[in-house]
Formats: sequence, structure tokens, C-alpha cells
Amino acid sequence: MRISLRLIISLVVGVTLLSILFAVFQVKAEKRGLRKELENRAAIVGESLESKVAPLLDLRSRKRLQAVVTEFGDRDHLKGIAVFNKAGDSLVKTPGVADDLQGVLPHVIQSIATKASYASFTPLNGALTHIYILPLQNESEVLGALTIFHDASFITAETSRLWWNTFLRALAQAIFIVLVTLLIIRWSLMGPIARTAKWIREIRAGRKAERPGFDDEDLFQPLTQEVTRLAKSLEAARAAAEEEARLRENAEAHWTPERLRVHVRSKLGDRPFFVVSNREPYTHSYRGKTMEVTVPASGLVTAIEPILRTCKGTWLAHGSGDADRQTVDERDCLPVPPDEPQYTLKRVWLTKEEEEGYYFGFSNEGLWPLCHIAHTRPTFRAKDWELYQAVNQKFADALFQEMEGVEEPVVLVQDYHFALLPRLVKERVPGARVAIFWHIPWPNPEAFGICPWQRELLDGLLGADLVGFHVQSHCNNFLETVDRVIESRVNWERFTVERGGHLTQVRPFPISVACAETPEPASSPHASPYLDRAALLKEHGVEATYMGIGVERVDYTKGILERFHGLERFFERYPAYLGQFTFVQIGAPSRTHIKCYHDLLGEVEAEADRINWRFQSSQWKPILYLQRHHTHQEIQRYYKAADLCMVTSLHDGMNLVAKEYVAACEDDQGALILSRFTGASRELRDAVIVNPYDTEQLADAIHFALTMDPAERSARMHRMRQIVKNFNIYRWAADLVTDLCEIRLDTHVEVG
Ligand code: G6P
Repeated sequence: MRISLRLIISLVVGVTLLSILFAVFQVKAEKRGLRKELENRAAIVGESLESKVAPLLDLRSRKRLQAVVTEFGDRDHLKGIAVFNKAGDSLVKTPGVADDLQGVLPHVIQSIATKASYASFTPLNGALTHIYILPLQNESEVLGALTIFHDASFITAETSRLWWNTFLRALAQAIFIVLVTLLIIRWSLMGPIARTAKWIREIRAGRKAERPGFDDEDLFQPLTQEVTRLAKSLEAARAAAEEEARLRENAEAHWTPERLRVHVRSKLGDRPFFVVSNREPYTHSYRGKTMEVTVPASGLVTAIEPILRTCKGTWLAHGSGDADRQTVDERDCLPVPPDEPQYTLKRVWLTKEEEEGYYFGFSNEGLWPLCHIAHTRPTFRAKDWELYQAVNQKFADALFQEMEGVEEPVVLVQDYHFALLPRLVKERVPGARVAIFWHIPWPNPEAFGICPWQRELLDGLLGADLVGFHVQSHCNNFLETVDRVIESRVNWERFTVERGGHLTQVRPFPISVACAETPEPASSPHASPYLDRAALLKEHGVEATYMGIGVERVDYTKGILERFHGLERFFERYPAYLGQFTFVQIGAPSRTHIKCYHDLLGEVEAEADRINWRFQSSQWKPILYLQRHHTHQEIQRYYKAADLCMVTSLHDGMNLVAKEYVAACEDDQGALILSRFTGASRELRDAVIVNPYDTEQLADAIHFALTMDPAERSARMHRMRQIVKNFNIYRWAADLVTDLCEIRLDTHVEVG
């Protein structure tokens, strides 16, 4: 790599100009000093001579006068001395100044006339001369004048010498500085720049390249950060393009982020896109004094986040992190994902009381158990209901603020926290297209009838143009509930409800995951599941040949205790697996403010301890219970390393862990044990389907999954992967948006 000539010239010119500027000041100061010195010297000579010369001005003393003048005349730079009488005639002079007398005469006469001394630098006969004229006087009159001539040409010579020296010094400095700068550039900048360029070149060529290391990491951090991001985006874009090309080549029609982006834009045009959910996709919180960002453990976030990344738009959610307020602007918005912004998150703030009543109370102690029917009684309190209504209105207001001036916004409301929101939005903005997706099951009308405010909830939901559930049976339950509870017209053929002149379409949209197509690069630490399994277990002090995985929020609907009982029974019935098989249970604490969730945390831990105590050895335990929030990346590692995954929900709208696990099994290895009470079991029929209440069946299912013929195991996983790929989250979003955009708002009410 060559350093440009322009850079060198700029450096030289810059340094030289600076040196010259300093030199000008220095030479001027030096010149001033020399002149001053000469002036002082002339004054001293004048004073010394004055008293000696004045008495000798008469004719008789001419000889002595000449002797005095001649004696003084022999000094450094003293050119000569002349004495004039008061008529301006020269009385005596030293030989060196004979030719200069004429030139100073006018000043002599003036000095005598004014009785004032005179000094100046004057060129006399081609040489710069300092003349000093001193009037000689007794008490009453001027007798004549003493003139002292100093040769000042040495000042010019001295100045020229200085200029020359300065020039040489400036040149040396310029060369030195340029050399040092070039060396610094070569060592500190050009090396790293060359390495960075090579790194970018590798990335551009599509080759896997490690980020180079730098001596001065701080200096290059902004650059490397940006290049890392650029590399990621490029890799993602390339992967997407390759995938598109591959799909075209195979004439397949998988949904990809690119395809969704194009599709959504063609459907939505310029209409802005809004998503509302309770849970936010990114939470800022303080750990000690440092702020950290987490992605919450939530099926909803797993599903919705890839869509927002693809289609942009604005996501409104409750700002629940203790550092959330520190990161938003004056509209409570921030661009996310934090390290690669792609859409806007608008945070809505709730008081403690609101959170208590609307989220913990009505949503999670009321609606959650009501819809799941998992043997936990729903609790409905009037105060919670009031706060649920108030918070729905609060979110509506926040949404209106963002939608101001927009005539036809598209709003996707998420989940049971916002049953009232669709009507609030439609009443205020009739041109809005509103869909609500209910992420949890919808029970039969008898079960739903427990809720004292079922009418209000149904009325709120029917404000939407589209109501979505995971599976058909939830749609059926919903329509039956509507049919029985509120005044409306249900069309069972078209699956619509007409109420108050507004038509609502009800449809199943089985939610899914992104399902990445591109396998992780070989350099990834997770490249070999087998090696990684041993390493993963070793990190927790366990050695085992086989590994199972379960990932949940610790929630009573997930059947974690039932799963543990199935595991215990498995070890009783198949003791050969003692010391061989470890089940890793990742349990993210959830809603712990609610007593039954809090108690469940303790119960799950105690049950794992009890079973471990029964079977464990020094290097091994049957259940490795990891009770903390894990990031998506951390969980992926467990999925990939596991021989089997257990999903034993007692009731679940869909269950995305099942699909996430399948999506992670890129080598088609792995078995899924799946509760028949999940929505996912309707699609993933190649899973080992179980009834989680049947402990014997669970034990058998684990044994079956571990001993399954490898070909069958791989065939089952392959088919499940095809389903998850074909019906991924992009297709889910595309179907939802397509249906919502195709609804005709103006001719809603059906005739006949
Ligand atoms: C279920 C719900 C989601 C919710 C998730 C996490 O999957 O359907 O809407 O996001 O649980 O619950 P949380 O209360 O922690 O948001």
C-alpha cells in the first residue's frame, strides 16, 4: 500500500509554513535586540565622550581633542567619531568617517538648533550606519555636536545568517516530522487498514473471515463495529438471495423475509403498520450500574419480531424494564434491534397498580387460566377488570398518537391482554384495518361463561375486522361463544360474525418460527452436536451419553412436573439409562408475582432435587434444572446438542418450543416428544405424540425416542422440518396480512 504524494506534500508544506512563521518572529526579535544593543552602545560612548570633549572645543585644544577622539574611535563596530562646532563645521574626525560627514550634516545642524540628541539607522555610502548626535553645551549655550558612527551592516549579516539557519532547521524538522509521521502511519494505521481491507475483501468474496486483532483496539473499535455489522447484513442478504435462488431453482415456494417484505408492501402499499402487544421485544434493565438489553422469554416475541424486522413499522408494548425510560425519545420511541435498528418500538408506561390489575390480575389470573383449562381456577376481580379497561384505553391513546393523520393504518393486536382494543381503534379510526391474534386457546362456551365480563370482551374483540386463532377448534369455540352470548349473526359457512353493522372474519393462522435455511458456518462452536453435548454437560459437571431438552417459562400449563414424573418412571423402567441420559430443563421464571407461579418455581426445583437425589451419582444426574432466563443463542446450543426435546403442555395454543426445536435440527437428527394438547401436535404429526398426564406413556415415549431406528428418526424429523419450513412465521404473517387487506371495509354487512 502506498502513501499518497498529496499526503507527503501537505505534511511538508504544513510543517515548513509553521517553521517559517516561527522564524519570522525569531528573526524580528533578534534584529530588534541587535539594534537596541547598538543604540545603547552609542549612548554609552556618547555619555563617556561628552564630558571629555566639551571643554576642548576651542581652537587651542584641537590636538588634544583629536587624541581623545582617536583613542575612543577604536571599538567594536565603531566606525568613527566626529566633532562639530556650533556652526556645523567639522573640528576633528576619525579617518573612517571622512566621507560620511556630508550625509549627517543636516541632522547635526538640527540637533544643535534644537539642543536635542538624534539617533537613526541610515545607509551612508552603501553601508547601514547607526548615527548618534549629541549636542555639546555648557551651562548657557550650545558649543557644538559630537557625532558617533557605528557600522550596523553586521545586523543585516546576522539576520541573513539567522534566516539561513532557520531555513536549515525548518528543513530538518520537516524531514524529521514527515519521517516520523510516515512511520506512525505505516505501523499504526496502514497495517490495521490493510488487515481491515483484507477482512472486508474476504467478506465481500463470501468467505468466512475472522475479525483481525489490533494493537490499539480502542482506536479501531468504531470501524470494526461497523464492519462487523456490515458483514452480518451482507451475510444475511447473501443468504437470503441464495435461498431465493435455490427456491426458484427447485420451484419451491417457501416464505422468506424477502418474499414477505415484497408481499406486505404490495398489500399494504404506503399504509403504516402497527403491532400492539403487552410484552416488549427488548427490555433495558440495570445490572448493578451497567445497562443491559434482554429479549424476554415469550412465544409472542419469538414469532412477531422477525416480521417487524422484515416489514418495519411500529411496535407498541409495555415498557417493563427498570432502564427502559432511559433509552426512549420524547415520544417514548426507540429504534430496535438496538445494535441494528430496523423498526420502531414505542413503550407505554404502566403504573404499578395498572400492571397489578391489568397484567397480573385480569390477564394472568383471570383470562390465562380461563382459556387454558389446566386445573387452576381463574380469579376475576372487579378492580382488575377496571384496570384492564383503563390499560386497553391507555394503549389505544398511545396508538392514536402514533397514527395521527394516518387514514388507513393496519393494526395487528396481539393476545388476550387487549381484547377491548380492536373496538376502541375502529370507533376512533374507522378506516383502520384491525386484526387481533389470540395466542392462547379459546375454551368452549361453558368454560368461557365463567368470566363475568364475557360480553364486554366479545364485543371488544368483534370490533376487529379479523380475529385469528392458532387452530380451527379455537375458532369454532369462539364462534359458539359469540353465538350463545351476544346479539350477533354468525355465518358458519364463511366463519364471520356480523354485529352492529360490522363484519368480523374468524380464521385459524397456525403461528410458527422463522426457520433459518442456512446452516451455521463450520467455524461455529456448535458445529458438532456430539462434541458440544459433552462440553455443554461438562460445563454443569455432568457426564452423559444422551441428552434431552425442555425449554419453558415456569408455568403450570407447561406440564413440567408431569414431565419430571415421566422421567422418573423412565429411569425406573429402563435403569440401563441411569448414568447415560440427562434431561436438561431450562426454566425461565415467569409471572412470579402471582402466588401459584411463585409456588410452582419452588415445586419444580424440589421435584428435580428429589428425583436427582434418588438416582444421581458423582458425575451424573438425571435432571439438570437450569432456572434462569436464557438467550435465544444459548438455547440453540442445547437444541442442537439434544437427542430429544420434550414438550408436555397440559394445554397450549400452539407451542413454539416444539417448532423452534425442529427448526434447530438442521441435520435431521433429534426426536420430538409432543403433548397432544398443543396446537403444534396438529401439524407435527411425526412427533412422538403423548398425553402428559399418562406417566407410563411418557416413560415409554422417552425410551422410544432414544432407541428409534436412525432412519426413521431422521425421516420423521425431515418431514417435520419440511412442515415448519413450509409454514414458517413469514407465511403466517403473509396469510394474516393478506386476509386483513382483502376484507372490504365498505361492504361489511352481508345481505340475506
Ligand atoms: C404466552 C402468551 C404470550 C406471552 C407469553 C409470555 O405465550 O401467549 O402472549 O407473550 O406467554 O408471557 P408473558 O406474560 O411473560 O408475556
